[in-house]
Amino acid sequence: MTRRQLLVGLTAAPLAMSLACSRDQRVPPSTRPLPIPPLADSTVDADGFRIFTLRAMAGQTEMVTGVRTDTWGFNGSILGPTLRARRGESVAVRVENTLAEPTTVHWHGMHVPAAADGGPHQMVPAGGSWEPRWQIRQPAATLWYHPHPHGATEKHVYRGLAGLFIVDDDPQVDLPHEYGVDDIPLIIQDRRFTGAGALDESDPTDIGLLGDTLVTNGIAGAHLTVHTERVRLRILNGSGARLYNLGFSDTRVFHIVGSDGGLLAEPVPASRIQLSPGERAEIVVALRAGERIPLRSFPLENRAGLAADEAGRFGVDDTFTVVDLIAEQSLRSSARLPASLATLPPLRGATAAVQRQFDLQWFMINRRRMDMDRIDFHAIVDTDEVWTVRNVDNWPHNFHVHDTQFRIIDIDGEPPPAHLAGFKDTVYTPPGQRIRLAVRFADYTDPRAPYMYHCHLTMHEDRGMMGQFLVLGPQERAAEQPGTATHDHAMS
Ligand code: C2O
Ligand code: CU
Ligand code: CU
Repeated sequence: MTRRQLLVGLTAAPLAMSLACSRDQRVPPSTRPLPIPPLADSTVDADGFRIFTLRAMAGQTEMVTGVRTDTWGFNGSILGPTLRARRGESVAVRVENTLAEPTTVHWHGMHVPAAADGGPHQMVPAGGSWEPRWQIRQPAATLWYHPHPHGATEKHVYRGLAGLFIVDDDPQVDLPHEYGVDDIPLIIQDRRFTGAGALDESDPTDIGLLGDTLVTNGIAGAHLTVHTERVRLRILNGSGARLYNLGFSDTRVFHIVGSDGGLLAEPVPASRIQLSPGERAEIVVALRAGERIPLRSFPLENRAGLAADEAGRFGVDDTFTVVDLIAEQSLRSSARLPASLATLPPLRGATAAVQRQFDLQWFMINRRRMDMDRIDFHAIVDTDEVWTVRNVDNWPHNFHVHDTQFRIIDIDGEPPPAHLAGFKDTVYTPPGQRIRLAVRFADYTDPRAPYMYHCHLTMHEDRGMMGQFLVLGPQERAAEQPGTATHDHAMS
């Protein structure tokens, strides 16, 4: 038995035994209710903008039972409230940085003007604030927000800065939708702790910080009491490096209903779902009254391109419990799953005139590392493009694009599986694979403020596996110097 298997065995053991062993075990017993990030308060101003406040702050969190750990959070000691707004609404977020160092807040998956994107050019200085505004122009989806300061994203997210941004749309599809009751956010992350209970930020791998303790919504060893026959789980892989292969311990079939950018055309039955860092999935699972069933992460099945002797180094052999679902003795009935969920527009761009290629290797894209002063290309607004992304490395990477939701045209020439055929903003790119994406940037142009594309393994991104592009109007010209945000950064 390996140490990992032993630890997993302990988690499944009866509670009394787990408690007795809890002193130095890294996977703690399921004794605490899953925290649900609160829905963020908002006010609507005279211009009709829904205004949220996110205050980045330092604090302490009991991530592991009985251990206080220094962490960072928004409006609290770890993670942040769930922002929620409807398609068509205008929103503003007042971001206040009370940390001792600059940070940013990026709206991952959101279609936003570049100056509101919260990338590395929109730094919020220590003690400063920033208030981007935009209109929500995209379908219902589970998006998220997190810092994006160039070179320090991994650390800021690892310390706890991240939250969900849920977009609602009309008409609402008949899926479980009572937030925190049958519609449950799951932010999945991995952490390592020092003997003193601090976050261990040492990073000896090529992939980034890999933790040996799984934390869900900020704590290890969470359980969720389920009151309804079906629950919807909005799952975010909020880890910096870890690839999860999620499923239930009895391999029951659940339905994948949403990907990064919104609902799928119809529910896709599955017993496992893989998520790389930054990706989201919405699933609906049915429970039987009185049962207790853990959601786990299992060893990776999609091992394309990973050398067998390397796999361990990338953490893909590990097993973790994500959350124990405990169904009540009697369950409220839930609506049946709708047969169809969304009408996806026909896949555009397969024959688009604009073709770009992105080769991922080491900490580079197309043999270049990120340079804040270099714009890698210009895209023309409202124009279909085809992006060919190749992982020409022997490390796992993924690929994320700001501002847009793309569609996967093919993976090594084959059409994507159904659960990857919807809107995506982040895609896993195993070593050796070639993925073609239909990409289009709508509505917003800016001659100065760029958007980012990058590997979302955050250590890779920090080391330079990122590039930047402008979206311009057909006649528009780029400014001489990229990046200067059009917002002012007045100290508060
Ligand atoms: Cu989630 Cu450029 O990031
Ligand atoms: Cu992003
Ligand atoms: Cu990478």
